[in-house]
Amino acid sequence: MKHELPDLPYSKNALEPHISAETLEYHWGKHHRKYVDTLNELISGTEFADAGLEDIVGNAGAGPIFNNAAQAWNHAFYWNCLSPEGGGRPQGAVAKAIDSSFGSFDKFRDEFSDAAKSVFGSGWAWLINTGNDVISIQTMPNAETPLMHGRIALLTCDMWEHAYYLDYRNDKGGYLDAFWKLVNWDFVNERLEA
Ligand SMILES: [Fe+2]
Repeated sequence: MKHELPDLPYSKNALEPHISAETLEYHWGKHHRKYVDTLNELISGTEFADAGLEDIVGNAGAGPIFNNAAQAWNHAFYWNCLSPEGGGRPQGAVAKAIDSSFGSFDKFRDEFSDAAKSVFGSGWAWLINTGNDVISIQTMPNAETPLMHGRIALLTCDMWEHAYYLDYRNDKGGYLDAFWKLVNWDFVNERLEA
């Protein structure tokens, strides 16, 4: 099975001025593409040659195949978490889950931003459905993903430097401010109701 780089759900300049076309050109067009291309090379002739991406993430175990499969999955998920029509405050089930799990949207946003900024080195900040109407924030290093733990990811922010360095240099807070202006709450709601 040849894995393919998924199209972005919007044009490369659609997230400007918050995330530039140049960032997407590199982040999607080079970094994400490289994970997919490397995965295809690594699985050729192995037991994972015909496996789907989620199967590989769940079963490959630590190593290069897992790293590239998980990064391919994480990035496809991240693109869907953003939208030029995103931002603002969530409605519906997510709004209720945030209020009941964090007290208020403002508290949730601050807690998520603080967690994301605390990622040391490369990694991801996730909002996860932990079940029983509870949602929680978790950071994960490198390619780690809720998918490998059988958890349902609701939202992610890529905290690898390649996600923000062209636009924000070392200003993680500036990148997080941009992130909140782009969050696709409709997608998060779909994930929560899935
Ligand atoms: Fe990335």
